[in-house]
Amino acid sequence: MSRILVAYATKKGSTAEIAQAIAKELQAAGHSADAVEIAQGASPKGYDAVVIGGPMYLGKIEGMGKFVQRHIPELEKVPVAGFVVCLAAVTKDPEGMAWAEKALHAALNPLRPVAETIFAGRLDPEKLSWFQRFAVKKAKSPVGDFRDWAAIAAWARDLPGKMKV
Ligand SMILES: Cc1cc2nc3c(=O)[nH]c(=O)nc-3n(C[C@H](O)[C@H](O)[C@H](O)COP(=O)(O)O)c2cc1C
Repeated sequence: MSRILVAYATKKGSTAEIAQAIAKELQAAGHSADAVEIAQGASPKGYDAVVIGGPMYLGKIEGMGKFVQRHIPELEKVPVAGFVVCLAAVTKDPEGMAWAEKALHAALNPLRPVAETIFAGRLDPEKLSWFQRFAVKKAKSPVGDFRDWAAIAAWARDLPGKMKV
């Protein structure tokens, strides 16, 4: 049994629920897994492996890069996996997907993740500020909850093998 941290950033909660689903799947596989928000002080200290996730906002991944930079010495010693949550994954718009992939690489740099993926997220206009509603309307973003729980669970189930934990 290994200790696995799922460190995540979130603004509106959809990435938090994805992180929790990943931790649950890892627990079901017999590991000790904690989903901890980066803003709440998530730390890789004492963990055998770390999953890092964050949502995409206006072309940038929230929280992830700062977490990586702050904890490079510990993160370089353990297997790491990363995921980004966004709406480009809903429409599979090639430009948006390529951007998300590039942003994920940049946020995880200089780590060499054993797995990286892009998950579709959720957009609930009621939870947005006036400016955010304006920004997503302008971008013609799809509205709704597009999280694919089966795909999230399947990705999580493959992690221990890839992380060799
Ligand atoms: C103001 C705003 C900007 C966003 N910008 C992007 C973007 O640039 N690319 C993208 O694919 N999704 C974008 N999204 C969609 C979010 O990534 C998606 O809603 C995600 O699930 C939010 O995660 P959270 O609930 O954990 O904060 C944006 C959403 C909002 C509200």
